[in-house]
Amino acid sequence: MANFSSFHILFFLFITSGIAVSATVFTLKNNCPYTVWPGTLAGKGPKLGDGGFQLAQGASQQFTAPAGWSGRFWARTGCKFGASGNGNCVTGDCGGLQCNGGGAPPATLAEFTLVGDGGKDFYDVSLVDGYNVKLGIRPSGGSGDCKYAGCVADLNAACPNELKVMDPQNKVAACKSACLAFNKPEYCCTGAYSTPQTCLPTNYSKIFKQACPDAYSYAYDDQTSTFTCSGANYDITFCP
Ligand SMILES: *[C@@H]1O[C@H](CO)[C@@H](O)[C@H](O)[C@H]1NC(C)=O
Repeated sequence: MANFSSFHILFFLFITSGIAVSATVFTLKNNCPYTVWPGTLAGKGPKLGDGGFQLAQGASQQFTAPAGWSGRFWARTGCKFGASGNGNCVTGDCGGLQCNGGGAPPATLAEFTLVGDGGKDFYDVSLVDGYNVKLGIRPSGGSGDCKYAGCVADLNAACPNELKVMDPQNKVAACKSACLAFNKPEYCCTGAYSTPQTCLPTNYSKIFKQACPDAYSYAYDDQTSTFTCSGANYDITFCP
């Protein structure tokens, strides 16, 4: 009888510690002075938050992702949805409240590849598809490098005219990447520019990099933009 219960206790400890190391909690927080509608897209693993939801000013929401999950989060702005969730957004739009794919660029992205089980997670903030809101990723409770990743500058204010996206009130709502605006190989790292050796920073990506040194400014941006951490949870803050 004694052996039987200690087996159960050990089994229980094994199960609970297994869950503790292999699941990751994302906390999405809206510090913007307006409502945002986060969009989520899973490359691998379950869809989080039904793909998209409303997040009022000051509100936060938590999601748990299993080991091996990969995907992205972004903020949508200026959304108008009907009762059934149909409608659209000025930036980051995916065609409804709940996204079944990515959002329309330009949008600042928080990207993750979770390993779990003590391995290194990878995360970054990407401006490769452009910028719409400030975004920060803060790991908590992990081990390793675990640095803050973010784009905390107002790139809409620094956006060159030819990259600006205006909202209906004629204010700058987002800033396109040069690839999105001009669709040229040297900006998109395609064709003759499809390797890290041939796709170099441009006058446009340099504007992004100068404003946000810790974020990806173009597809083959250097390794200063990718971060790693083991066993952490992550706070993703819009307008940190
Ligand atoms: C960037 O370079 C292109 C090509 O030389 C030029 O047309 C454009 O005006 C430049 N833009 C900025 C913001 O420097």
